[in-house]
Amino acid sequence: MGAILIIGACGQIGTELTKKLRSIYGTDNVIASDVRKTDPEFVESGPFEVVNALDFNQIEQVIEKYNVTDVYLMAALLSATAEKNPAFAWDLNMNSLFHVLNLAKAGKIEKIFWPSSIAVFGPTTPKQNTPQYTVMEPSTVYGISKQSGERWCEYYHNLYGVDVRSIRYPGLISWSTLPGGGTTDYAVDIYHKALENGTYNCFLSEETRLPMMYMDDAIRATVEIMQAPAEDIKIRSSYNLSAMDFTPKEITESIKKHMPDFTISCEPDFRQKIADSWPQSIDDSSAREDWNWKHEFDLDAMTTDMLEHLSAKAE
Ligand code: SER
Repeated sequence: MGAILIIGACGQIGTELTKKLRSIYGTDNVIASDVRKTDPEFVESGPFEVVNALDFNQIEQVIEKYNVTDVYLMAALLSATAEKNPAFAWDLNMNSLFHVLNLAKAGKIEKIFWPSSIAVFGPTTPKQNTPQYTVMEPSTVYGISKQSGERWCEYYHNLYGVDVRSIRYPGLISWSTLPGGGTTDYAVDIYHKALENGTYNCFLSEETRLPMMYMDDAIRATVEIMQAPAEDIKIRSSYNLSAMDFTPKEITESIKKHMPDFTISCEPDFRQKIADSWPQSIDDSSAREDWNWKHEFDLDAMTTDMLEHLSAKAE
């Protein structure tokens, strides 16, 4: 294996994935890249290149410069932001993927990780325990781009032998990085506001149930699917992946176990409709069978860890 390139390394998942991959494969073997240099500490923590995910030549140059074999393409507009700029979201989410798939097809890289999402499902999908294979009629630009991306991943695998691996992430929660423009972002914000103000105004209704996962689990899943023997990865579109599901009311109850005075109010906005179109819980038995996926964090374990880390960070 040569070097690893992470495109979109300054984002919510990219930041933590970069750290994890560097701890496994060595700092110099993991090239972080993003369209701009955001956090100076992160940028200076190892090899970093400014790369626009829409610029094929830029990606190709970095791949050649560092002898990259594995690419993690994390650049994307998320669900809420994408609704505000549909044309750009489509352009970014699709064409960055084509660039990387075409580099693999041309034999310039060996392996790709590309994240998909629960947003590939839509209002006509069964909502509880959503199966791996089911009706998929996404109603958001983000979901349409992810579903189309999944089809192209499978197509490139079947026709050109491209080793592309993918996970349908649920809403992701972490203490060290902030999400950027998703519908599940409330589940991160609520912890910050609990500690800052003791109260939170949620943009989803209190009974809105969504599949979620703690970032530690999501990063481990990403590393594990990429480390698995190729023959174990039987699904080349994207794997359902699950850890927990909860409502704003239930996460509030979990926080109250540590902070009894914490309160929440709800003022649903345009994101409510997006959340209502997504599954409430996910059946991920294929991931568990094919590459031994197993989650570790449930809601209360996550709350304890989030509050501990965020409190320590604030001191
Ligand atoms: N967490 C993402 C979002 O809310 C879903 O992939 O957009």
